[in-house]
Amino acid sequence: MARQNPIRRAAVFGASGGIGEALCKALLTDSALETLYCGARQEVAVNDARMRPFSFDLMEETGIADAAVLMADDGPLDLIFVATGTLHDGFGQGPEKSWRGIDAGTMARALAINTIGPALIAKHMLPLLPRKERGVFAALSARVGSVSDNRLGGWHSYRASKAALNMLVRNFAIEAAQRSPNAIVVALHPGTVDSALSKPFQRGVTPEQLFSPEQSATYLLSVIDDLEPADSGGLFAWDGTQIPF
Ligand SMILES: NC(=O)c1ccc[n+]([C@@H]2O[C@H](COP(=O)([O-])OP(=O)(O)OC[C@H]3O[C@@H](n4cnc5c(N)ncnc54)[C@H](OP(=O)(O)O)[C@@H]3O)[C@@H](O)[C@H]2O)c1
Repeated sequence: MARQNPIRRAAVFGASGGIGEALCKALLTDSALETLYCGARQEVAVNDARMRPFSFDLMEETGIADAAVLMADDGPLDLIFVATGTLHDGFGQGPEKSWRGIDAGTMARALAINTIGPALIAKHMLPLLPRKERGVFAALSARVGSVSDNRLGGWHSYRASKAALNMLVRNFAIEAAQRSPNAIVVALHPGTVDSALSKPFQRGVTPEQLFSPEQSATYLLSVIDDLEPADSGGLFAWDGTQIPF
């Protein structure tokens, strides 16, 4: 795919996830790409000389800081993409259907992974955006993190953690603009994507509504390509439409 804004150096946090892995694959199809840092809890397999795998855990700031130091040695990044997240623990816990289901531990885990983890990545990675040229920091959020769009309720911890992430993205966008006028910091909604995260909740989703990770990754890269500094601080869906907070 020919991009108006070539991505030469990129970092993906969550390269082992459904969307994160597809995003790495899509980035690697681009001949303009020189280096791709692929981060996951367990290092991903290297099948392209441009891949630089690293390991990190959202619960451990030092690992994130170390990864950023390593990347900083090679210069600024055109794209920093946070593809991590959680909706359920894989053992039947979450998301809540009612306030009666609220559990402090489950809620704390959602906030740690969906909000605090990406914030720590931003803390260490935002300084790696270029000072003059265009650079994008994108974090996968979700439409259900929009307060104004919430008509169904439920999923308390997930919604709250994504709403808080959206607020942080807006905050970081304001701060990043003071450092670089061409910095773009956004939250993205990938659509409903066939992955481990959405698997238990796909009933009622039509085949047309359910994207493959590859489809979603292609859409998201196209949205990123079209973003301008004026878009910084917003939440954008897979089709480029802005979702109000
Ligand atoms: N799928 C959808 O329909 C959908 C819809 C809206 C929004 N989203 C958002 O999109 C993002 C990615 O979702 P997905 O569908 O690709 O889910 P996924 O396949 O379950 O991937 C989740 C990713 O998060 C990583 N992760 C979880 N806990 C971590 C931790 N403590 N430290 C480091 N990495 C951790 C996982 O790493 P491991 O492989 O090590 O577990 C994995 O790479 C999430 O933020 C989700 O909320 C997805």
